[in-house]
Amino acid sequence: MSKSNLQNAQNKLLSWYEIHGRKDLPWRNTENIYHVYVSEVMLQQTQVKRVLEEYYFQFLQRFPSFATLANASLEEVFGMWSGLGYYRRAKNLHESAKLCANGLPQDLKSLQKLPGIGRYTASAICSFGYHQSVSVVDTNIARVLARYFGVEDAKEAYLWELADGFLNHSNPTSHNLALMDLGAMVCLPKNPMCEECPLVGGCKGASEPHKYYKVLSKKYENKKLHFGICERNGKIAMKRSHDGMYKDMLELPNIETSFCEKDLLGTFAHAVTKYRLEVHVYSLDFIEEDILWIAQDSLHKAGISSMTKKALKLYNGTKIFREGV
Ligand code: ADE
Repeated sequence: MSKSNLQNAQNKLLSWYEIHGRKDLPWRNTENIYHVYVSEVMLQQTQVKRVLEEYYFQFLQRFPSFATLANASLEEVFGMWSGLGYYRRAKNLHESAKLCANGLPQDLKSLQKLPGIGRYTASAICSFGYHQSVSVVDTNIARVLARYFGVEDAKEAYLWELADGFLNHSNPTSHNLALMDLGAMVCLPKNPMCEECPLVGGCKGASEPHKYYKVLSKKYENKKLHFGICERNGKIAMKRSHDGMYKDMLELPNIETSFCEKDLLGTFAHAVTKYRLEVHVYSLDFIEEDILWIAQDSLHKAGISSMTKKALKLYNGTKIFREGV
């Protein structure tokens, strides 16, 4: 690509961003690196709308700085993360905050030594938070680059090289944000809106976008789960999960169902990551396992998953019939 073509494309991209970009997002309008960091971790697997409307401000209000986050208990952090999913992110954020008493590192390499910070998050922090001249590649940007440069089955390392070559060193932050927005709003996975794209003139993929980006159909795994709820004096028997996606969180005990079919309270469907779950909820009169007795209202503050919340809701909804009130 000639230098003038490169500059031309970069300028068109920036002009598009000026008019159409999501420039008002709060994490794009702060110099507070902690805010940028929190936003990037939340946005790793969650849509902008949910983060914006339900979590970002609430989390920052409760934990306004690295120090407040570091001094909080993991339970409190899970409490503010409750329902957002991928709870490992919250644990990593908490651990990083403890390691960052003197502030967040300012270079890509040191950032990637912190728990939960990979190449994307490190470059996003350097680009959006510190305004350094570094490229950023997330899934949206990867798709734009693969199509624009016409690369089939692009390897990640190659996409980073393309991003480096395309980076606009005069305005790297806006350049990266513009690419991200172009991917999120125009260069869509299924039906890209090429007629609206500022880069269409030089785009190798404009005529055959799906040659360079394949829309993979999602593979789901079906699973059945069985939880038992045992209540005593307003307290619920809970366990701490030792592995899997809810590691370190409080969850209801899994049970062997052969003895208690008659105690089935109900069933609900729950979708999480690649799983399509059928969750069965039972009432238990006694429990033998090592458990923690937790009051229902403290449970919500301690951070439980959406699935556990649904199970408790089902349990509470059926109480009136069981107790004959
Ligand atoms: N702005 C800055 N980082 C972002 C992200 N990860 N997703 C959406 N908008 C952003």
